[in-house]
Amino acid sequence: MMAWGTTQLIVTAGDTEQQKVIDHVREAGQGHVFKYWEELNESSRASLLNQLQQVDLTLMAALHEKFIKSGHDSQKKGDLKPADFINLPTTEQQQAAYHQAKKVGEEALRAGRVAAFLVAGGQGTRLGFNGPKGKFPVSPVKNKTLFQLHAEKILALSRKYDVAIPWYIMTSETNHEESVEFFESNSYFGLGAGNMMFFRQEMIPALSPHGKLILDAKDHIFRNPNGHGGSLSALKNSGALDDMKGRGVDIIFYFQVDNVLVKMCDPVFLGYHIQEDAEMSAKVVVKTEPAEKVGVLGCVDSRLGVIEYSDLSETQMQARNADGSLKFQAGNIAIHILNVDFVEKENEGGLRLPWHVAHKKIPCLDETGSVVEQDQTNGYKFETFVFDALGDAKRTVILEVDRAEEFSPVKNKEGVDSPETARRDLGNQFRRWLEAAGVAWSVGKDAIEISPLFALDAEDLKEKLPSDFQISTGVYLA
Ligand code: UD1
Repeated sequence: MMAWGTTQLIVTAGDTEQQKVIDHVREAGQGHVFKYWEELNESSRASLLNQLQQVDLTLMAALHEKFIKSGHDSQKKGDLKPADFINLPTTEQQQAAYHQAKKVGEEALRAGRVAAFLVAGGQGTRLGFNGPKGKFPVSPVKNKTLFQLHAEKILALSRKYDVAIPWYIMTSETNHEESVEFFESNSYFGLGAGNMMFFRQEMIPALSPHGKLILDAKDHIFRNPNGHGGSLSALKNSGALDDMKGRGVDIIFYFQVDNVLVKMCDPVFLGYHIQEDAEMSAKVVVKTEPAEKVGVLGCVDSRLGVIEYSDLSETQMQARNADGSLKFQAGNIAIHILNVDFVEKENEGGLRLPWHVAHKKIPCLDETGSVVEQDQTNGYKFETFVFDALGDAKRTVILEVDRAEEFSPVKNKEGVDSPETARRDLGNQFRRWLEAAGVAWSVGKDAIEISPLFALDAEDLKEKLPSDFQISTGVYLA
């Protein structure tokens, strides 16, 4: 074996800068990444050095120390209390507050104060789909992709409120080109290239149990997207925040790529957020059962945040209130509102969100230098979570919403939260809307689909359909 700590690597003439990077990497105890240096051509060497230059080795050493060496994990172990939230409106008074909030939200939309922001940098490993998750076809009749459904909702809102709603999309190294190319080849679904901005989030290397960077090719270090918390720094560093300010946008509607039922830029949510003068807000649904795999909104040592389902103890998970409801029931559906100013503030002096660790299977090179997929966990991935910023907000609105109308994510290949359940839930939503519009129909199990460009909700649909409208076969309303 070569002693990388002592040997001078061959670098091209005049490349003292390159040598500096190499020295720095070796001094940090990561010299093994040059194991194949002699076999690499110029461009592979340059590529490897370029990757290394982007790695914060001090941070990696600190993460190794905190999460691997001293066996710390990211679990929130402090005193946990459930979070208060605004319930679904049932009384007359609550209905009035709801309608008032909607009015306020609609004014903000009409005034061009709101941007849509999609985080789509994840790797969608559980779905096993090859490509950006947004390209996954999911609607019940037309098989529209997640990206198209989101795009059409934004376009419909832009038409409804007679204002261009800019759409910012965070991708990552692994799916950026393919995501942008998809929108280009679909003419941005009518939104206009000028109203869309794509930017990559940062990547962070994984570490072996000994705190070493992991090669997944002779010239490549394994890195993963730095978690959706990275969206806060990516918004700043990409120039998206400045772009928003230039357009007069001061409120960001944040959503995930996987939720087919997302109520885009929901005016009610916007209204409550504005009325409360909140800085960051969150939507929740009441958990269906103790073990449901959603994070819950709660306060740890008085700091608001989300506690992942895997971090709740069995006792906390099963705990009930006197009325029988779950004590920790506010399920996080990962829909937020963030003020532009708040995101700026979160970036002051560098993003401070805490890191979380996950023990994972990471492809790496075998003795012969060939890449091997692993069947056992062999390394550690690090991520930051956007909801950790909730605790920094001076004021927050947590709003309960109707799960059937607003939450059905595509996460797994089959079973719970799969394409099948998403199609079912979309179909059920359209059926409810038709019933609410008084439409007589006898479609049985036939698929139904209503384009967001036709109606965004039950009210919209009622206004658009002629009173004698009838359905007798599978239908697509566009
Ligand atoms: C997430 C939440 C969970 C919530 C659930 C609701 C976390 C840790 N948990 O779970 O509390 O109940 O959603 O559906 O987030 N993403 C990036 N960059 C990254 C990582 C993720 O953009 O580096 C994006 C993904 O593309 C996706 C979203 O963030 O749009 C969610 O990521 P995912 O890992 O699927 O979160 P979940 O574990 O499903």
